[in-house]
Amino acid sequence: MVSFGTSVEQARKCITAVENALRDMRPDMEFRRAFTSPTIRRILAKRGEEISSPEEELVRLAREGFETVYVQPTHMIPGIEFDKLKNIVHGFSGRFECLRLGKPLLAEADDLPSFADILMRAYPRQDGEALVLMGHGTEHFANAIYPALQSAFSMSGREDIFVGTVEGWPRIEDIRSQLVNKRCKRAHLVPMMLVAGDHAVNDMAGDEPESWKSVLEAAGIEVRCTMQGLGANEDVQRMYGEHLKRM
Ligand code: CO
Repeated sequence: MVSFGTSVEQARKCITAVENALRDMRPDMEFRRAFTSPTIRRILAKRGEEISSPEEELVRLAREGFETVYVQPTHMIPGIEFDKLKNIVHGFSGRFECLRLGKPLLAEADDLPSFADILMRAYPRQDGEALVLMGHGTEHFANAIYPALQSAFSMSGREDIFVGTVEGWPRIEDIRSQLVNKRCKRAHLVPMMLVAGDHAVNDMAGDEPESWKSVLEAAGIEVRCTMQGLGANEDVQRMYGEHLKRM
């Protein structure tokens, strides 16, 4: 299983939860973990935990004589990180009899309404409060998944839900304008990421003036934050499990 990784210990539980849910589905198969982020692997190595990169793990598996390998990413969207992983896996195609790559959480059209349903169940409408979901966002075209999710919420009548991104579009400023126009006085900020890691701690809930919390508070909106990554959600774990089954 391949994850970007996190150096925030609390957030790590969310990755482990997804790993465990998928391991439990196939106890007959050998489980291996890889993190793609060199920075995070370096931080963890300094703390005494050695985690392989996908390349390192594939080399090891080939050397150990494994013939069949299923690579399941915990990525949420088929963006830059997934493209990189695809290239890596492709490079090993001659080294195994069977080498497959599973899809990220949101990779097929049906995934969008299923995922929107999971979030709507997890966060029912609260009177007078907007639910602001912080997605990661990307310059990759897969960023279109975020406004598509916004549509899924709107079509379900959840006009109280707003989807923004840290590194893509729409941004928190776009969300702020909408909340101000709707005269919304209270907002609930929730990370729409596998883990509530660095982006959730700093970009979402941090005290710096650029954080989402500060930007909304400066517009006169009362803010509360939930620091829970999606990996802890059992329905999300099941969605990853479906992807594994399909692979
Ligand atoms: Co980031």
